[in-house]
Amino acid sequence: MRVLSGIQPTGRFHWGNYFGAIRQYIDLQDSGQSYYFIANLHALTTVREPNLLRQNTLDAALDLLALGLDPQRAILFVQSDVPEVTELTWLLMSITPMGLLERCVSYKDKVSKGLAADAGLFTYPVLMSADILIYDSDIVPVGADQIQHIEVARDIAGSFNHLFGGTFVLPKSKVLESSAKVPGTDGEKMSKSYSNTIEIFEEPKAMRKKIMRITTDSRPMEQPKENYAEDHLYQLYSLFVDDTRREEMAALYLRGGFGYGQVKTALADAAENYFADARAKRADLAANPKRVEEILGDGASRARKKASEVLARAKKACGVTR
Ligand code: ADP
Ligand code: TRP
Repeated sequence: MRVLSGIQPTGRFHWGNYFGAIRQYIDLQDSGQSYYFIANLHALTTVREPNLLRQNTLDAALDLLALGLDPQRAILFVQSDVPEVTELTWLLMSITPMGLLERCVSYKDKVSKGLAADAGLFTYPVLMSADILIYDSDIVPVGADQIQHIEVARDIAGSFNHLFGGTFVLPKSKVLESSAKVPGTDGEKMSKSYSNTIEIFEEPKAMRKKIMRITTDSRPMEQPKENYAEDHLYQLYSLFVDDTRREEMAALYLRGGFGYGQVKTALADAAENYFADARAKRADLAANPKRVEEILGDGASRARKKASEVLARAKKACGVTR
């Protein structure tokens, strides 16, 4: 079984990215051959500063490795290091109906807001299909917002197979269970677009400051808070602690007589402790950029081996190989 997923280097990863996606990629790295890549070509549809894109790409690699992605067990690479994928994109584009892409939400949303969309954004799902199909991927773990794109990949693979004979494996999405759940500092879904994020490797001091600014209600301290499970501060705390400590916190909410400041301090301590090992590992890796380049280089050459095999199969099937 082949597992594949990509993540865009559009900024520093936050708690939502970790609990909603990254942690689960790492858990899946032992189920068959897994491929994880940093989708810098997709990021180019939004990041227009070369140095920032370069920095984000390196940061993404450091973050993933520090958080437990193991290059011995998974293939980690940068999307653009496998140029075969853009070549396959053209073959797929040639048989992709406009209507299929017009229905995709990222494009549709932008146009419905009256914003001008680039061809890159419009054809984004075709590049994503090539990412998936070029490694004969069986399972694609993604957040709920990406399911539509996996369906596009299946559609395109099905049409290609129908036109030119069996070439591609039909991929299946695996929806990550806690996706769309992690709340931000304002209680809305944590997202870069809402400026309510707490980054995984934020400086401890800055992280504490952000935690102290998490919004809370204005009920008096002594009042018991029965609906603790709906409180985003409680929800965030729950991500970092075991059942016992979670139940203790629930009991405190039910009893009342505490200040939210106390919960925030507990959250800051728990989060700092949770990521302490990863933070140390990240610092080691950051001090050794050669090692990181080696890992990415090795990942790219392993990925290219598979990609060139599948690309050759596709070119032969559709008649561009003489
Ligand atoms: P952002 O919304 O900050 O731009 P992305 O869209 O780049 O984040 O998300 C990358 C991955 O992280 C996706 O798989 C997405 O499902 C997951 N993710 C992002 N935010 C959250 C969140 N608040 N809760 C759970 N998962 C999330
Ligand atoms: N579009 C995905 C996202 O924004 C990232 C991505 C690019 C991806 N190519 C992929 C995910 C292939 C899974 C498979 O989250």
